[in-house]
Amino acid sequence: MARIKKAVIPAAGFGTRFLPVTKATPKEMLPIVDKPTIQYIVEEALASGIEEILIISGHAKRAIEDHFDSAPVLERELEEKGKDDLLAIVRETADINVHYIRQKKMRGLGDAILCAKSFMAGEPFAVLLGDDVVYADATKGQQPALRQLIDIYDAYGGSVLGCQQVVPEKVSSYGIVAGKEIAGSKLLKVSDMIEKPELSEAPSNIAVLGRYIISPTIFELLEHTAPGKGGEVQLTDALKQLALVEPVWAYCFEGKRYDVGDKLGFLKATVEFALRRPDLGGPFRSYLEELMKE
Ligand code: G1P
Repeated sequence: MARIKKAVIPAAGFGTRFLPVTKATPKEMLPIVDKPTIQYIVEEALASGIEEILIISGHAKRAIEDHFDSAPVLERELEEKGKDDLLAIVRETADINVHYIRQKKMRGLGDAILCAKSFMAGEPFAVLLGDDVVYADATKGQQPALRQLIDIYDAYGGSVLGCQQVVPEKVSSYGIVAGKEIAGSKLLKVSDMIEKPELSEAPSNIAVLGRYIISPTIFELLEHTAPGKGGEVQLTDALKQLALVEPVWAYCFEGKRYDVGDKLGFLKATVEFALRRPDLGGPFRSYLEELMKE
């Protein structure tokens, strides 16, 4: 079975939910504390064993390319001032091997993934969506979310969708899966999928949350997938077709997932990641406690 070495991160969207900041700044560059959200995603991919990352870029997204590039003037300045810790932080991001393709028209997530066809060269690959940041608690033995999916792929083959159950009010915000549970596991064999269904038509409350291992067969299917929900080519619609011809598994991964594409979700991620930071957690918690007394 082919090893999962490549990942694609779609990042071409306009980020309209975060206007005005996204007018000139890619939403993927908004920081959770001091690190752009896309860096959390890239780090998860690398920690999961991914070797090559393709970012689907678009208009006004240059800042992402600059972020994963060397910065000679800044590096020299830090070097001269002996700021080795900061220099290491700057160099770490430059050392990551990232490739780019531009999606020229916003035709939907399915179309963005189709842009990765030649890069994947017929191999199964991973997809990570930038709106879903997952915190894996190493102290509880949790693996990065994508690593968990790769382990399922290594054991069962096919395609694997990273899922978690969501509350009924959130069902209409996600791709929802239906399938048969494999006894004694957190695994479902997918038989149907619906993109953002009304609660009344949802087959379950198991939502796909931004992590996928996908067979290359998806590209032929995407080429023939008509626009669906919202007039966009939906990855969910092509995955539903894929499940008819190859095994597609839904796996409920461990870890706390934040919807950073939503303002409240973004604020929650900011507060919780700050509380976990050894350098900030203590004083930030004291500040929040004082604030709650006001
Ligand atoms: C996309 C997918 C959806 C998935 C979601 C996860 O939707 O189309 O199936 O559940 O990501 O975050 P989006 O939120 O980009 O509209």
